[in-house]
Amino acid sequence: MKMIERIEQQDEALIVAWKAGGESRFPYLWLRDNCRCSRCRDPRNGQRLFDALDLPAEPRPTLVVLDASVIAIRWQEGHESRYAAAWLAAHDLSPAARARRRPDLRLWGAEIANDLPRADWPAVLADPAIELHLLEGLARYGFALLQQVPVEEGQVAAVGDRLGHVRVTNYGRLFDVVSLPNPNNLAFTAVGLSVHTDNPYRDPTPGLQLLHCLECGAPGGDTVLVDGFRAAEELRQRHPEDFAILARLPLSFHFADADADLKASTPVISTDFEGRVTAVHFNNRSMTALDLPEAEILPWYRAYRRFAAILREPASELRLRLAPGDLIIMENNRALHGRTAFDPNLGRRHLQGCYVDKDGVESRRRVLQRSVA
Ligand code: OGA
Ligand code: ZN
Ligand code: ZN
Repeated sequence: MKMIERIEQQDEALIVAWKAGGESRFPYLWLRDNCRCSRCRDPRNGQRLFDALDLPAEPRPTLVVLDASVIAIRWQEGHESRYAAAWLAAHDLSPAARARRRPDLRLWGAEIANDLPRADWPAVLADPAIELHLLEGLARYGFALLQQVPVEEGQVAAVGDRLGHVRVTNYGRLFDVVSLPNPNNLAFTAVGLSVHTDNPYRDPTPGLQLLHCLECGAPGGDTVLVDGFRAAEELRQRHPEDFAILARLPLSFHFADADADLKASTPVISTDFEGRVTAVHFNNRSMTALDLPEAEILPWYRAYRRFAAILREPASELRLRLAPGDLIIMENNRALHGRTAFDPNLGRRHLQGCYVDKDGVESRRRVLQRSVA
């Protein structure tokens, strides 16, 4: 448990020096806004009971009292607040503490074949620790392989609803990936598909995609997965100006058939305010004609083609052959997926897929983290 050694009141912030070493700065306004008392937060649910405009514009302490594990502050307005050292440590704004709170993403390439994030579905159903391990692997690597899922139609949606909530689309709750005579999507043919984000023409793009293998008798049809975040970092390293172009300029994706007309825009690479990659949208099949100032077009294609080339390097690719009962879960904006061509005349191939919102699965992971030691 983190203990406080000493505090110092500065003009706009309280400095906390920790017993274990190091100092953290907490702005007074931030502290006042995060008062945990029962007048400020509903004790039943922790929700804030006042508006931002109810706060004093410049709250200042008149008295600060420290013991090693709690800081008590009396504010000029008369309000009193108490902050546990553990709470302050958990919300420390220093760069190192903020870095520790970030998700532990591990970038991967072809070598991940030796150590796949995976689990057997019956074990996941029986043991919350195994389920948590699966969901932590999914968060870290952006995909996970489930095995021993019953080879039955509809199971993919049952898995989706067990781990989160299936997102219904115009393709239904689930869809069959089979070769069709008059397909509305190249996915429903036997051609190879280069790695892609599914349905980037939706807003929001589906968070997770599940693909469940029911039959794989046809030669070909192997699965290819590529870590889009790693590819983006490769691009940033090799050609920073191209990374910046793909992170800045939007493109649009489109899907239309008799009943649907879907369109959404986004950059290929999304980043957060500190420049970290948060999403990749890559789908060459459904990208529309670029609509940008003419001078941006050629630089954009240079950047896009370099990114596409990285995605296609053998060192980027995990190749798998799904067997009946295998179900792959992918973060759709990170683990890009594709397949090799197959020959439907030499055997049957049948996958079922569905989309699942990411928030529900992340919520389940955090709830499991509360109870699994
Ligand atoms: C898809 C898709 C891959 C496959 O349906 O979105 O990419 O292995 N299918 O058929
Ligand atoms: Zn309060
Ligand atoms: Zn797909």
